[in-house]
Amino acid sequence: MRLDHIAYRVNNRYKTAAFFNEAFGYTLGTEFQIEFDDGSKADCLALVPPEIRHPDTSLWTYHSLQATPYGEAVKSEYHAPPEIFVSDGSKGSIVGDWVAERGGVGGVHHMAYQVKDVAAVMNEWKEKGYAEFYSEEPIVCQDPDLQQVFTKPSELTGIIYEFINRKGAGFCKDSVKQLMETTK
Ligand SMILES: [Fe+2]
Repeated sequence: MRLDHIAYRVNNRYKTAAFFNEAFGYTLGTEFQIEFDDGSKADCLALVPPEIRHPDTSLWTYHSLQATPYGEAVKSEYHAPPEIFVSDGSKGSIVGDWVAERGGVGGVHHMAYQVKDVAAVMNEWKEKGYAEFYSEEPIVCQDPDLQQVFTKPSELTGIIYEFINRKGAGFCKDSVKQLMETTK
């Protein structure tokens, strides 16, 4: 499985993004705000790595010739670097409260692995007892074409794992909103 993105929830998204820019060479990809039904908000920055990502990342999933839920044969052995997703939120919001519970600093909220079939990986993880999930089904977005789901925090690592299938780059604002809401 290829690491697709690392999601941080932080106190100040701009300061964190500047750090990733200066220290790692990440640049701003997209920026958007999510407004929840209760009026609270989350502000998000998607940062892209300095290395160019292969246009067909769907083939970058599993270093094996076997077809598995994680993917098929890789097209290339070169590393496809993960994006970084940074969000913050005000007091009383999903993200703001999560950061406040962690000393006001925040941290890694989830790590997203790219898989070929999100539902199949969910079923395998449920059967094997690796993790529970926040939703029964993957969250589906049509444009851009992607599927995502969150595990509950792992009892062994403390973090949430996301499984994602996407053809190209870019996040789906509505899916991010739905995913965040599943963790409430
Ligand atoms: Fe994510």
